[in-house]
Amino acid sequence: MKTVIYWFSGTGNSFHLAKAMQEGLDDVEMIPVVKALDDDIEPSKRIGLVFPVYAWGPPAIVAKFIAKLPSDIPEYLFAAATYGGDPGSTMAITRGMLKRRGLVMNASFAVKMVENYPPMGGPPAEEKQRKINGAAETEIAQIINRIREGASGDFVKKNLFFSLIGSMVYPIFRRALSTKSGSKFYADEKCSLCGICARICPVQNVRLLEGEKPTWGNRCEQCFACFHWCPEKAVQTGRKTVDMVRYHHPETSLNDLILRQE
Ligand SMILES: Cc1cc2nc3c(=O)[nH]c(=O)nc-3n(C[C@H](O)[C@H](O)[C@H](O)COP(=O)(O)O)c2cc1C
Ligand code: SF4
Ligand code: SF4
Repeated sequence: MKTVIYWFSGTGNSFHLAKAMQEGLDDVEMIPVVKALDDDIEPSKRIGLVFPVYAWGPPAIVAKFIAKLPSDIPEYLFAAATYGGDPGSTMAITRGMLKRRGLVMNASFAVKMVENYPPMGGPPAEEKQRKINGAAETEIAQIINRIREGASGDFVKKNLFFSLIGSMVYPIFRRALSTKSGSKFYADEKCSLCGICARICPVQNVRLLEGEKPTWGNRCEQCFACFHWCPEKAVQTGRKTVDMVRYHHPETSLNDLILRQE
C-alpha cells in the first residue's frame, strides 16, 4: 500500500530521513509540505509527516499543513522528527494538532541529528557532525523497520524537563515568529550575489534585485536554510554568527531541496 510522506527541511536532515524512508519502504511518494500547502491534499491510506523540531514543537508551516489535512482517517499515520538536542514536547504537540483535525497519530519517532540553530550555538565541528549523523543511521534503520511492520506507539525517548519547558516555550516561539521573524538576517560584504539564499528559501522570504544584496521579508519560518546554504558564509543573523560553522546534511544536495520545492 502506498505511503505519502509530507516533509519539511531547512538543512537537509529531515529530507535525508524522508528519503531513507522512501528507499527503505515500498511505494513511497515524497511531497514537500510547502507544495502541498498550495494544492488540494488528497486523502491517503498511509501518511507520514517528517520535519525538524523547532522550539520543542513542529515548525509553524507543518502546523499550518496539519490544519489543512483531510479528516478522512488513514489506516496508518506516523510522524518522525529530527532534532539537535532534545525533541521535548514535539510529539505531544503534534498529536494534539492532529487530534483537533480528528486524526490519530499511530506512531511517533525522533532522530538526533546535527543541531542547526545558531541561537543554540549552531552546528558542531565536522568530526562531531560525522559521529552524530553516523549514529543517526542506526536509528533511521530501526524506524524504517517499525514503519514497515506498522508498529503503533510513541517511540521517542522522554525527558520530562524538556517536555515541560517545551510546552511553555513553543507557544512563545510561535508568537514571536508571527510578529518579527526574518528581520535579523543580512548579507555581509562576502556576498557574491549568487542568489542561492533566495532560491533555497522555502517561503520566498529572501528578495534579490539585480546587482543588489539580498533582503529579508517578514514571513520567515526560521529554517536557517539561507544561512547554512550560502556558499560564501555571507548570511548573518546578529553579530555573533560570522565565524559560526555552516552545515547541511552531507547526503542532501542543494538541488534536492531547491528543485523539489520550486
Ligand atoms: C528555529 C529552530 C529551532 C530549533 N529548536 C530545537 C529544539 O527545540 N530542540 C532540538 O533538539 N533541536 C532544535 N533545533 C535543531 C533542529 O531541530 C535540527 O538541527 C534538525 O535536525 C534540523 O533539520 P533540517 O536539516 O531538516 O532542517 C532547532 C532548529 C531551528 C532552526
Ligand atoms: S547565498 Fe550568500 S552569496 Fe549568494 S546571494 Fe545569498 S548572501 Fe549572497
Ligand atoms: S528567510 Fe531564511 S530562515 Fe527564513 S524561511 Fe527563508 S530560508 Fe528559512
